[in-house]
Amino acid sequence: MGATPPAWTWVYEGYDPAEERLRESLCALGNGYFATRGAVPECAADTVHSPGTYVAGCYNRLESEVAGRRVQNEDLVNLPNWLPLRFRIRDGDTADESTAPWFSPDTHPPLDHRLALDLRAGVLERTARYVDGTGRHLAVRQLRLVHMGDPHLAALRTEFTAEDWSGRLEVESALDGTVANTGVARYQQLAGRHLTHVHTGTAPGGDVVWLRCRTSTSDIRVGMAARTTTDGDTGTATAHAPGRARLLLRPALEPGRTVTVDKCVALHTSRDPAISDPLHAAVDRVCRAPGFTALAAAHRAAWEQLWRACELDVPGEAGRILRLHLFHLLQTLSPHTADLDVGVPARGLHGEAYRGHVFWDELFVLPYLNLHLPEVSRALLAYRHRRLEQACFAARDAGRVGAMYPWQSGSDGREETQRLHLNPRSGRWLPDHSRLQHHVGSAIAYNVWQYGEATGDAEFMHTKGAEMLLQIARFWADAATWDGARGRYRILGVVGPDEYHDAYPDASRPGIDDNTYTNVTAAWVLARALDLLRSLPEPRRRDLFERTGLADAELDLWQDVSRRLLVPWHHGIISQFDGFGELAELAWDRYREAYGDIRRLDRILEAEGDTVNRYQASKQADVLMLGYLFAPAELRRLFGRLGYELDDTTWRRTVDYYLRRTSHGSTLSSVVHAWVLPRVRRAEAWRFCQEALAGDIADLQGGTTGEGIHLGAMAGTLDLVQRGLTGLESRGGALRLDPVPLPELSRFGLSIRYRGHWGVRLALSTERLRIAVPSSDREPIHVVLGGRTVSVAPGESCLLPLCRG
Ligand code: BGC
Repeated sequence: MGATPPAWTWVYEGYDPAEERLRESLCALGNGYFATRGAVPECAADTVHSPGTYVAGCYNRLESEVAGRRVQNEDLVNLPNWLPLRFRIRDGDTADESTAPWFSPDTHPPLDHRLALDLRAGVLERTARYVDGTGRHLAVRQLRLVHMGDPHLAALRTEFTAEDWSGRLEVESALDGTVANTGVARYQQLAGRHLTHVHTGTAPGGDVVWLRCRTSTSDIRVGMAARTTTDGDTGTATAHAPGRARLLLRPALEPGRTVTVDKCVALHTSRDPAISDPLHAAVDRVCRAPGFTALAAAHRAAWEQLWRACELDVPGEAGRILRLHLFHLLQTLSPHTADLDVGVPARGLHGEAYRGHVFWDELFVLPYLNLHLPEVSRALLAYRHRRLEQACFAARDAGRVGAMYPWQSGSDGREETQRLHLNPRSGRWLPDHSRLQHHVGSAIAYNVWQYGEATGDAEFMHTKGAEMLLQIARFWADAATWDGARGRYRILGVVGPDEYHDAYPDASRPGIDDNTYTNVTAAWVLARALDLLRSLPEPRRRDLFERTGLADAELDLWQDVSRRLLVPWHHGIISQFDGFGELAELAWDRYREAYGDIRRLDRILEAEGDTVNRYQASKQADVLMLGYLFAPAELRRLFGRLGYELDDTTWRRTVDYYLRRTSHGSTLSSVVHAWVLPRVRRAEAWRFCQEALAGDIADLQGGTTGEGIHLGAMAGTLDLVQRGLTGLESRGGALRLDPVPLPELSRFGLSIRYRGHWGVRLALSTERLRIAVPSSDREPIHVVLGGRTVSVAPGESCLLPLCRG
């Protein structure tokens, strides 16, 4: 395997404290089981550095007091830091620890500093040159990996070269259990110390130190072990400090000869299957682990397989960014995820924003994974299924039936949305009504359906899939109230994807009525649930009806609601919600002029003593989300079923209307606009596409990437190419394609896994689409394009001309 080409490498030159948090997020390494931010191993957490290691699904709940109220929050826990590796030059050669200062980029500004993230190999390389107070130069090169083959292992190789001196170096390799969740400034007033009972020790043999601890309320036990070895001439000594397992090495250095220190780390928690206890598992694993070179080779081989499973060939800078997005998606949700009980964390395993919670963002993630790693999609849906009972309890507690999934979900599926949130602009803690975003249930139902269409997994659809769909449909049918005057069902008191509007101006109750997105997706869920129930094998249908107490009369209600839910309109435009058109117009230019970046208009207005609830101003795509979920023909049918006519002109007018009234305060917004616009307003489409691509690398949401990547948007850009631009739909057992031109991104290739066919390759240019199906004993694939259906048998390929308007 040759050197990694530049298109697969992200390089950050120089050391810039102001950029450090962003780089830590973008250079985080992970394997689906855990991830570690790309922090400097010499530094502990402070205002510049925010090291973090997070195991998927490892949450803990703490109580805090804010604004005179006791609140509980559940967080993805920052686990002991395995990175620490400090070093200093030893003056004199006594047996005691040196008192010389440790090198750190903050106290010894490095002469050169470079981070290079090699996506192909999954390795972060760091080079730096330090100089001490007496002019002695030390070159340092580090290679870091979080193993993609063995999800419990990580490794850090450090090469030291004394350039112009000889003597001993003192190296401290540590596991630090004194860490806390301190990664998000906004949460500083909240409790963040999740680990207790931290114990350290040394395994027989002397080069393995360990640390064990547990989370304070969820009682998850954590075991971590580090083996540190060197090819240098040295002795080792352990010198544990409170909460820190430490090993000291004192290698002798001579000019021009490189000494290598390898640290290999194993991590287990009590949530892992097939272990006795996490500490024993970690020590055992690290003792058995091969050396760094063999580890790196196996790690690279695992990555090669992943890159093949998710082949995406887009030329130029867009392709380079998409590869980075894919890298971070796969580091959060990898084949290892298939064995875990975890959901899709909105900010990856890359930081502490949103406390590692699971929102509706899986809507932007699963459709991509369905066509590459369907077993991972299935596991992520199983996370929701295991919490179906909790969602039914939530509905019952709210006086409803069916399943009311939480807007924010963590360990057990109860509602984790905070009661109060801080507006950093005004310093005020405000009531948070975002939990009224019940549309999250439709996102889950949509993903269930999409998964079934993409994989043909009848076993899942007839069991867990049907149970979830049924209970979500049931919730919607119950939530809909009949309005005799309007002759329509209505869903009142909700919040839509645009979280800005959480109440009518001056209203005494939170929530708005008839959010179009909520109502239309609810109608869709009801219709699909009816379809699925009809298609169930009779014995299964009977079981399900018996177990859930479903009766035919209830199905009649579903039919009725699915055809008569209200969609509000104003001036020939689909209203975002009932009354949206009567809200005041915002002086957009004035605000842009005054504030520059107005993405978080809600915070700006609140700080001014005003409220965004008064204005026709949306945080993110809301009505337009419908164009993201449904192909144009399907959306027309859906409106038709509800008794409304939606022609192209009306849709285009609606898109134009909201385009002028959206501040894009969520990274998801540009993805949706980049998806919807090519089909209606081509000229602006590329701008949104670029914005979606730049979201995290350029930290467009004003400093938020340093608190974790935006996983939904990253995956959304991948899916934008995969399904958005190709119009690819898996429906009725056929692959349907309806490519849309985007001149700046007109030639690309990708491969997908589709209903047991591995590596189906699609190559698109302005004139044609080529589809090639690898050899197997499967049935041919039916491809529908422009009213034509062709069958492509395994081992064959087909070239289809595109006639584009
Ligand atoms: C967006 C939500 C999203 C959440 C987590 C919010 O800013 O408005 O739609 O689910 O971030 O990514």
